[in-house]
Amino acid sequence: MKSYGMWLLFFIHSHLSLPKPSMATTVRTSNRETDKQSLLAFKNNLDNGSPVLSSWNESIPYCKWEGVYCCHRHPQRVCELELPSSGLVGSISHYIGNFSYLRSIDLGDNNLYGIIPSSIGYLHRLQHLRLMNNSLSGTFPANLNNCSQVVNLSLASNQLSGILPSWLGHFRKLELLKLDSNNFTGDIPLSFANLSSLYEVNLEKNHLSGSIPSNLGQIGQLHILSLGENDFSGFIPESLYNLTYLLALSLALNNFHGRLPSDMGTCFLNLKQLFLGENQLIGEIPASLSNASFIRILDLGENKFSGTIPAEIGKLCPEIFNVFLNNFEAKVTADWNFLNFFTNCSSLRIMRLGDNKLGGLFPSTIVNLTSQLEFLDIELNYIIGEISSGIEKLVGLSTLAFDGNYLTGSIPEGIGKLQNLQGLYLGTNNFSGSIPFSIGNLTKLNIFTAGQNHLMGSIPSSIGNLTQLAFLDK
Ligand SMILES: *[C@@H]1O[C@H](CO)[C@@H](O)[C@H](O)[C@H]1NC(C)=O
Ligand SMILES: *[C@@H]1O[C@H](CO)[C@@H](O)[C@H](O)[C@H]1NC(C)=O
Ligand SMILES: *[C@@H]1O[C@H](CO)[C@@H](O)[C@H](O)[C@H]1NC(C)=O
Ligand SMILES: *[C@@H]1O[C@H](CO)[C@@H](O)[C@H](O)[C@H]1NC(C)=O
Ligand SMILES: *[C@@H]1O[C@H](CO)[C@@H](O)[C@H](O)[C@H]1NC(C)=O
Ligand SMILES: *[C@@H]1O[C@H](CO)[C@@H](O)[C@H](O)[C@H]1NC(C)=O
Ligand SMILES: *[C@@H]1O[C@H](CO)[C@@H](O)[C@H](O)[C@H]1NC(C)=O
Ligand SMILES: *[C@@H]1O[C@H](CO)[C@@H](O)[C@H](O)[C@H]1NC(C)=O
Ligand SMILES: *[C@@H]1O[C@H](CO)[C@@H](O)[C@H](O)[C@H]1NC(C)=O
Ligand SMILES: *[C@@H]1O[C@H](CO)[C@@H](O)[C@H](O)[C@H]1NC(C)=O
Ligand SMILES: *[C@@H]1O[C@H](CO)[C@@H](O)[C@H](O)[C@H]1NC(C)=O
Ligand SMILES: *[C@@H]1O[C@H](CO)[C@@H](O)[C@H](O)[C@H]1NC(C)=O
Repeated sequence: MKSYGMWLLFFIHSHLSLPKPSMATTVRTSNRETDKQSLLAFKNNLDNGSPVLSSWNESIPYCKWEGVYCCHRHPQRVCELELPSSGLVGSISHYIGNFSYLRSIDLGDNNLYGIIPSSIGYLHRLQHLRLMNNSLSGTFPANLNNCSQVVNLSLASNQLSGILPSWLGHFRKLELLKLDSNNFTGDIPLSFANLSSLYEVNLEKNHLSGSIPSNLGQIGQLHILSLGENDFSGFIPESLYNLTYLLALSLALNNFHGRLPSDMGTCFLNLKQLFLGENQLIGEIPASLSNASFIRILDLGENKFSGTIPAEIGKLCPEIFNVFLNNFEAKVTADWNFLNFFTNCSSLRIMRLGDNKLGGLFPSTIVNLTSQLEFLDIELNYIIGEISSGIEKLVGLSTLAFDGNYLTGSIPEGIGKLQNLQGLYLGTNNFSGSIPFSIGNLTKLNIFTAGQNHLMGSIPSSIGNLTQLAFLDK
């Protein structure tokens, strides 16, 4: 009963005794009740469903409310508001601008919508602003211009639009800038080159365009640069290769042109992830990339690269090696030497060589790749000869795509040992003989193509055991 009375009191207090939020009122007073009233106004602006906010009641002092942290030196003032993944639904109150001691806001992973209130510009001490993964809309909050102490700024995964403001270049302390998965348009402002403390920039999945400003190469501390899935074009500026600390570089899914410099690998000695897929890049893979020995993901797929794949590339030992849909060539056995190096690589999981101009005899070293390999694709090439029976050793495979080549001989009986196969693509080759009965062992098989070959006989009855099979092309 006591708690009910308390709740009623709280209800009346929070609904009747607060001043109406009004942007016309500009009086900035700060007494010890300000922050409490602002917290209640913040709560009031949200749907009352969140269990976290039900703990914001009079039974405990507001500095102990969940997610509220008051300052050590100013014990009545809120220093941090930490409510990530708290099921918050609603808009952010203008009263947020009243927490003049606020250093850190984390309201990420909620369901907040509406605009980011302009009063955020009053938070001069703000260092950490994380609003990512909500449904916030409007433009980049203009008044944030005032918050130049910000170190971490994450507005990713919202519905923000408009251009990136050039004044952001004055945020000399900025280390993290995450604006990915929004609807931003326009160029990367030249002023960003002045963000000398930047460690990570993620602008992926927007509609940004233009070329990468060449002065970005000045940001010596940059470790992560993600510009993928935008409408960027032009050449990759040379200065980018000066970013020797880069751990991850993603330029995938844009319109970049040009070649990669031959000494690229010696520039990026720390690089772990390189995503260049789905651009218009031409020329050869620089053999020097083999010097970038930390590379774990090498994605060069869907470009216009050509030449042979340098043998040394296999020394990299990545988890993902993707050169799908390019113009890479192999004519003689030696052109497949890169595979010899890859056989020492136990961390390889995905190898995509499909849709190139790779010819010559079926490279039997494939069978000595790690049995941990999950995805192997050499489809749509010019490969002749027979599949080695040793293929049965690649028991980790869930996808095996050999379709669209000139492979002959029979499909090895041992294929039935690849118990993890979900996709088996053998169509459009010159296979003869019959489909092995062992195919019935592949209980996870979902897609199987064998059409457009010279196969004889009927589909083995064992196929009746493949309950997952959704697509069959014989
Ligand atoms: C008030 O907050 C306390 C502490 O979090 C909680 O145990 C209590 O249930 C809350 N009271 C109401 C009425 O929500
Ligand atoms: C709190 O913020 C609101 C909305 O921005 C404003 O109208 C009000 O004057 C502020 N109150 C105090 C005490 O600063
Ligand atoms: C976004 O937030 C929701 C709700 O907290 C969560 O379930 C989801 O995993 C988050 N998404 C990402 C990409 O973090
Ligand atoms: C920005 O800061 C200036 C100087 O402190 C202040 O006068 C102005 O009201 C602030 N603007 C906003 C929108 O916060
Ligand atoms: C910035 O974010 C990082 C990682 O989340 C964190 O360790 C660091 O303390 C934050 N910096 C500030 C000033 O809040
Ligand atoms: C993003 O912008 C495009 C057009 O510029 C629009 O069609 C789309 O609805 C916008 N998406 C969001 C989430 O705002
Ligand atoms: C970087 O900052 C300096 C000093 O404030 C300024 O002169 C220069 O114009 C800025 N550069 C860019 C590209 O904004
Ligand atoms: C790379 O850095 C060096 C040394 O700081 C500098 O001389 C050179 O001009 C830079 N290259 C580019 C293309 O920016
Ligand atoms: C880089 O790689 C190339 C080609 O593999 C090699 O010839 C060269 O010696 C390497 N350079 C360094 C500095 O390791
Ligand atoms: C595969 O490895 C085995 C054992 O190291 C070796 O004997 C064999 O010649 C290799 N096969 C191919 C085709 O490289
Ligand atoms: C695969 O199938 C064949 C014929 O259906 C059967 O003899 C063999 O024991 C099976 N092998 C495995 C590993 O299940
Ligand atoms: C289907 O599976 C059952 C049980 O594993 C086995 O006895 C039977 O021989 C299989 N049928 C065919 C046609 O392979």
